[in-house]
Amino acid sequence: MKILAIETSCDDTGIAILEVTKTNDFNILSNIVSSQIKIHKKYGGVHPMLAKREHQKNLVPVLKKSLEEAKLLKIFNFQFSFDTRRRIPRRVLSNEFSNSKFSNIKKILEREPGLEKKLIPFLKKYRKPNFDLIAVTNGPGLEPCLWVGINFAKALASYWNIPTVTVDHIKAHIFVNTTKQIEQKDFPVLCLIVSGGHTQLFLMKDFGKYEMLGETRDDAAGECFDKCAKILGLGYPGGPIISKLADARRPLADGRRTSVKLPRPMINTKDYDFSFSGLKTAVLYQTIKDGRKVKNKKYKEEMSAEIQQAIIDVLIKKTIKASKNYNAKTIILGGGVIANKELRKQFVEKIQRLIPNTKYLIPNTKYCTDNGLMVAVTGYFRAKQNKFTKWQKIKAEPNLRIK
Ligand code: KG4
Ligand code: ZN
Repeated sequence: MKILAIETSCDDTGIAILEVTKTNDFNILSNIVSSQIKIHKKYGGVHPMLAKREHQKNLVPVLKKSLEEAKLLKIFNFQFSFDTRRRIPRRVLSNEFSNSKFSNIKKILEREPGLEKKLIPFLKKYRKPNFDLIAVTNGPGLEPCLWVGINFAKALASYWNIPTVTVDHIKAHIFVNTTKQIEQKDFPVLCLIVSGGHTQLFLMKDFGKYEMLGETRDDAAGECFDKCAKILGLGYPGGPIISKLADARRPLADGRRTSVKLPRPMINTKDYDFSFSGLKTAVLYQTIKDGRKVKNKKYKEEMSAEIQQAIIDVLIKKTIKASKNYNAKTIILGGGVIANKELRKQFVEKIQRLIPNTKYLIPNTKYCTDNGLMVAVTGYFRAKQNKFTKWQKIKAEPNLRIK
């Protein structure tokens, strides 16, 4: 089975092609992500309408690159018939495309003019690849961005006549870990998803059975990294930059003292909720001294290390507590913030020391931030359970909640 997967819920345009063999092996044929970091850098965060426009521009080139890498990009096959009268071969187009199909695409892409302009010439030039399924993220995420990916999926599904499934972005962050690795004995599975838009801790009691345990009451952990980086004048996205600066000076991990100290919000509350907006405010108060921003390198490095450690402390403490209370057999981590090197290291250390019999799945760093592969893997499981949605019925669900 070959799956084409499309992810556009935020600022990454991701397309993956995944082959699942009869013996359930997963072959990643391609996983291309076009990042819009340069565009959003000046805003210190994602600007939804700009992101939508970029997705419109990027989807066809990313699809082309993805097909190329998967060795599935084939130029349209012109057929030759023999012109007996003139005694020369005559080139005729196969009737694989028709005008009615193109007017259908124009209707589907009515609100995506930038995309239509690129897609129609592409479909005229290249042959239909032998996909069995198209999987597309339909939420949660930024509504204008979700719609571009969905409309793109609809256009391809209608033109190529391929079945479609919708994918929940949060589940995709979980299932990117699970190409073959969860069995019945691994339940209940405790999932921690930490990204730019979400910080959620929930229990997967069985395949498809979820219970939300807690989530952030204000900013997501990734958003906190991004906003703190903006306050410190470090650029966007904040997570990787703060992590790099923290590496330069890791006072806490080395046991040395740091001159800055931040709170660990809600670390000891009985529930499993989080709150990160206070952390950002604390950073702001400490950074502005006598109306001026503290700018020196040492301060920025120390503050970065402390921001990172405050977030790590809260995430690990609550996850370990939930794991013990709900007797989790497995812990799955996912989302952009899980790319953080120090967080990964400390999570593994704590799990091994405090709950040594718990299995844990942490995605390869390159699959933590948004990508098409996570949509493809989740899409495969949805198709296996016959959870298809006709392309005509797919809608963006910006506030989709796990259920
Ligand atoms: O999952 P993701 O790509 O997009 C959303 O679904 O939101 O996550 C993006 C978030 C950003 O806030 C970014 O700052 C954070 O993940 N991030 C990191 C690291 N790499 C990305 N945070 C901490 N450390 C990192 N190395
Ligand atoms: Zn994400």
